[in-house]
Amino acid sequence: MLTVSGLTKRFGGFIALNKVSFEVIEGEILGLIGPNGSGKTTAFNCISGALATSEGSIRFQGEEIVGMTPDAICHRGLARTFQIPRPFRKLSILENVAVAAHFGATVRTSEAEARHRAVEVLGLVGLPADPEADPTLLGAGGLKKLELARALATRPKLLLADESLGGLDPTEMASAADMLRRVRGELGVTIVWVEHIMATLMRVVDRVVVLDHGEKIAEGPPAAIAEDPRVIEAYLGEKVVLA
Ligand SMILES: Nc1ncnc2c1ncn2[C@@H]1O[C@H](COP(=O)(O)OP(=O)(O)O)[C@@H](O)[C@H]1O
Ligand SMILES: [Mg+2]
Repeated sequence: MLTVSGLTKRFGGFIALNKVSFEVIEGEILGLIGPNGSGKTTAFNCISGALATSEGSIRFQGEEIVGMTPDAICHRGLARTFQIPRPFRKLSILENVAVAAHFGATVRTSEAEARHRAVEVLGLVGLPADPEADPTLLGAGGLKKLELARALATRPKLLLADESLGGLDPTEMASAADMLRRVRGELGVTIVWVEHIMATLMRVVDRVVVLDHGEKIAEGPPAAIAEDPRVIEAYLGEKVVLA
C-alpha cells in the first residue's frame, strides 16, 4: 500500500532521516518505534506532505506522492493525526470532525452528510462528551480521540497515528488499543502507529519498524523486535515481556 524508499530529510546540516526504506502492507497495523528524536514524526510529516522531503521516493497505492500537497495526499486516502492536537478552538467538537469529513474525503460531501459522518466517528473513538461542546474543554486523552476522529472522518485507506495514547490512563489505553483494532477490522483501514507504550503497542501490531538517529535499525514481528539486542540497546533498555 505504501512504499518508502531512501527517504532522507535534512534540516540545514542536520540529518533527521537517513535513507529510510520500509513498506506498509494493506490490512496490517505497523508499529513505528524509536527513541525521542529518532525521526518518527518527521517520517509522518514527509509521507503526509506536511514537510518537503530532501531525497527519496514515497509511493502510495502505486503512485508517487513526493511533492504533492497535504490536501491532495489526504484526498487520495492517506490521513494522519498530529502528536500535538490543534483543533479549531472556535468550532464545536462535532464541527471540528465535520470539517474534516466535508473537506478531507476523496469526494466532497454535503454539510448534512459531513455532520452525520462526524457523529459516527465520534461514536467509534468513544468521545461521549457533548459533541456541541468546545474542544478546549477536553483533557489530553479527549484531544487525542478528537484528533483520531478528524483523521477517520476523511475515510482514509491508510492512517498514520502519532502517539494517539498520550495522556490516557492504563484502562483508557487498553480500550484505545482495542479501538485501533476495530478501526482496522470494521473500517478496513491500514494503520502505521507510533507509540511509546511498548507493552500496548506490541500486543496490537503485526510488524514493527525501529528508527534510531534517523536510520532504520530493525524490522520484524513484535516477538523478534522485543528480543533484538540492537533495539534493546538503542531504545527498549530491557526485553519487553509480551502478554
Ligand atoms: N522542523 C524542524 N526543524 C529542525 N529540526 C527538526 C524539525 N522537526 C524535527 N526536527 C529534529 O529532527 C529530529 C527528529 O525529530 P522527530 O521526527 O520529531 O522525532 P520523534 O518523533 O521520533 O521523537 C529531532 O532531532 C528534532 O529536533
Ligand atoms: Mg514524535
